[in-house]
Amino acid sequence: MKRILVLISGNGSNLQAILDACHAGRIAGEVVAVVSNKGEAYGLTRAREAGCATEVVAAADFADRESYDAALGELVAGYRPDLIVMAGFMRILSPGFIARFRGRMLNIHPSLLPKYQGLHTHRLAIEAGETEHGASVHFVTEELDGGPVVLQARVPIFEDDSEEEVAARVQVQEHAIYPLVVSWFCMGRLVMMHDKALMDGEPLGPAGYASE
Ligand code: GAR
Repeated sequence: MKRILVLISGNGSNLQAILDACHAGRIAGEVVAVVSNKGEAYGLTRAREAGCATEVVAAADFADRESYDAALGELVAGYRPDLIVMAGFMRILSPGFIARFRGRMLNIHPSLLPKYQGLHTHRLAIEAGETEHGASVHFVTEELDGGPVVLQARVPIFEDDSEEEVAARVQVQEHAIYPLVVSWFCMGRLVMMHDKALMDGEPLGPAGYASE
């Protein structure tokens, strides 16, 4: 069983999808801890209900990003995770932190990367007149939202869609693709090597697995 540590900041619906998949035996791993930078994150309640250890590392307790990330790194390393899953963790991590856990960190981003890196992805996609949007699971590298993509899910954007409607549509897909990618990692099918994602030993293209 692989040891999974999940970083969150909020609702934790992706965390829930991963907890459910572990519970159902669809992931050969267990969530050993859930760490949030926000004490009020609802995901912490989900974690407690699933019997996971929870930790809060609040930015206000640290002078700068380096000291925050050093403390977070120590805490995370103490759980000896095989995999760190960022699930709506809304902080930028410093290169030092990322180097320490390189190849063992996944993130989900609500856009079809490399499009719409950063914040407000749904609004930007609507404003740009996109008819297609989605979510991407990728390995984390020093480049913000720029690590190799493992899997994407696409959703339509219809005329007159609100930001909330698009966000909800994307989230349904997130809850399907994130547990799947975590399961691949835990089975040893998915690795990152030389900043490329490899599935069953084959490098994945820019849009990840199963894309034309
Ligand atoms: C997810 O939609 C995820 O894609 C997004 O935050 C949401 C968290 O939802 N992540 C980012 O924007 C990272 N840049 P959740 O807390 O319900 O899983």
